[in-house]
Amino acid sequence: MLSPPSSAQQRLTELRHLLQQASYEYYVLDAPTMEDAVYDRLYRELQALEQQYPDWITPDSPTQRVGEKSASQFHSGQHNIPLYSLENAFDYGELKDWEQRWQRVEEAQIPTTQAPATQTPGILLNPTQPYAYVCELKIDGNALALTYENGVLVRGMTRGDGIRGEDITQNVKTIRTIPLRLQIDRPPKWLEIRGEAFLPLSSFDAINQERQTKGEALFANPRNAAAGTLRQLDSKIVAQRKLDFFAYTLHWLVEDGEEFPEESLEDAPEEGKTAAVQPRSQWQALEFLQAMGFRVNPHREYCPDLNAVTAYCDRWNEARHDLPYMTDGVVIKLDSMDLQERLGFTQKFPRWAIAYKYPAEEVPTVLEDLTFQVGRTGAVTPVAELRPVLLAGTTVSRATLHNADRLAELDLHRGDTVVVRKAGEIIPEVLRVLPELRPPGAPPCALPSHCPACGSILVRPEGEAVTRCVNSSCPAIVRGSLMHWVSRGALDINNVGEKLLAQLLETGLVHSIADLYNLTVEQLLQLDRMGQKSAEKVVAAIATSKAQPWSRVLYGLGIRLVGSVNAQTLSQAFPTVEQLAAAEPSAIASVYGIGSEIAQSVQEWFQIPSNQALVAALQAAGLSFSGDVTPLPPIADTPIAGKTFVITGTLPTLKRDQVKTMIQQAGGKVTDSVSKKTDYVVVGTEAGSKLEKAQTLGITILSEEEFLELMF
Ligand code: IVH
Repeated sequence: MLSPPSSAQQRLTELRHLLQQASYEYYVLDAPTMEDAVYDRLYRELQALEQQYPDWITPDSPTQRVGEKSASQFHSGQHNIPLYSLENAFDYGELKDWEQRWQRVEEAQIPTTQAPATQTPGILLNPTQPYAYVCELKIDGNALALTYENGVLVRGMTRGDGIRGEDITQNVKTIRTIPLRLQIDRPPKWLEIRGEAFLPLSSFDAINQERQTKGEALFANPRNAAAGTLRQLDSKIVAQRKLDFFAYTLHWLVEDGEEFPEESLEDAPEEGKTAAVQPRSQWQALEFLQAMGFRVNPHREYCPDLNAVTAYCDRWNEARHDLPYMTDGVVIKLDSMDLQERLGFTQKFPRWAIAYKYPAEEVPTVLEDLTFQVGRTGAVTPVAELRPVLLAGTTVSRATLHNADRLAELDLHRGDTVVVRKAGEIIPEVLRVLPELRPPGAPPCALPSHCPACGSILVRPEGEAVTRCVNSSCPAIVRGSLMHWVSRGALDINNVGEKLLAQLLETGLVHSIADLYNLTVEQLLQLDRMGQKSAEKVVAAIATSKAQPWSRVLYGLGIRLVGSVNAQTLSQAFPTVEQLAAAEPSAIASVYGIGSEIAQSVQEWFQIPSNQALVAALQAAGLSFSGDVTPLPPIADTPIAGKTFVITGTLPTLKRDQVKTMIQQAGGKVTDSVSKKTDYVVVGTEAGSKLEKAQTLGITILSEEEFLELMF
């Protein structure tokens, strides 16, 4: 074995330590202190050293997070300590029953003389301080058991049946919020940490979107997606999927294993580290987990009694929908570990904890009919028309079925009883079918062969999940295109809404976007309930839209994959429509931020004769197809230059779009979702999860007024 010189050995240790600390600050604390480029350089230095001295690679080295592809399947293994599940309570009465049950057990164990002074004789224990609870959000993910030996992560297992689970150590290591080495001085020889691995909603959406474009089956919910990800054989894929982890309990061996090392009074812990002291309460345990480098859910609460517990449950019933991950209830644990030990377990559950579950978000109902929506891109989406049912506080009567594959996968028949699910902001969807309840002779559901709106034959390009109508004069497509054209982000024609458009199409006054610009007051007066004043306003609003810049016109055309951000980018790179229409896909794709799929879509769009005719007609009508926006100020001079903004909520005076244009003109960038790369979040009233995320990430939050101050 080739031993490195001691200077190299020291460098190896230093690098590991430095990188581990940087990664902890970045992922767990959301407070990076090291520039990405510096991290990359040091990481590569470590990799090079380890390549030179492979025997010196340690399992906790930051280079060991993503490993090789596992050859076959995972191995099952026995849990060191079984993983119990939790008893459920569905209302506060059941919580009260549980409290009385554990108090009776406790009462039977403690002779009255030893009972705390607060106990009222003859009545059950008085639930004051010694019997406090800790409330934690119940994260809807997958439980993991992580074993640390001498502070180093050696095994990560799924829950399985609680007795045996699957060894998925390689994948667990890719989760950046799980430390490979505990940040603790003199760690116990053996420690097991339990917690919930989950997929943040944004990652879940991104994964499903990607699967949809690839024509793959969609994950029904973030929990399934997390479970599927954890069992991926290729840990590189797992690493890309951005799983996260909240730690919630820790366990140590006391009998024949090593005792938890008591804090030695003589040896102070190493600087910046906590000494390993066996926690005696759940609250301490959570703090200890945090000190060891884990992410612990910040929304935990110490509750002195059951009233405080139900207040917590009430509060989070609403607030949980604004969290960036899914929760399905509250876990209530008795804080005192002595009490936990005294109460012990029933056959299935700990007596000292319970899960309060929020009202069902999955309910059965009947599929009464199947309809098909044709979007502005021609995509045909099957929609389940359901017998109305109350679900998580709202009545649901329709649910999306995504595409033909999903229909086939569900094996849906008309009249079927289906399970519908609604989760947070995710639109309701049909989760599964209960085939036992299928009425005899129920016909299977399939996508039609012809467009329900225009009757032309539908097309499903090979390798795609989406079935489309490709007739550009299909009324559903025309209607969708018009709706998009007048929408806020596009030409923003306020006075033309859905109803007016429907009338215009029905009466034949309008067949395409360009026809809007030929409308006269006289023609509009023919419509039902249209007065002189309104008609004049409509014509004026349409005329005003001619002043909108090229970027908005481009967005308004509704080219697949060209959203408002891409339209902005493209309109700057191609100052005239002629240049864009003539550009090769490779030239379009060479624009920063534009991928080859977008480039392909743009090129295809401009090749279609009816689209060319539309552009010509709109040019003739006087819309701008060149020379973007007002000239940009010297970008480097503005405090906004190079900064990334997210705008959320309703602002007191400015429209979101106005703010966006102001930022872009000053050289800043506006994106839709908050991430670590966001510099500022401009917030109005009713800002939801974006504000919360910005707060957790410590991003500067600006009111409209503060934003204007920064601008001018
Ligand atoms: S404690 C014996 N705490 O809920 C203690 N569980 O329905 C068991 N879960 O299997 C776990 N968040 O997967 C606990 N803060 C939390 C939790 C939590 C989610 C899950 C966990 C468990 C299931 C029980």
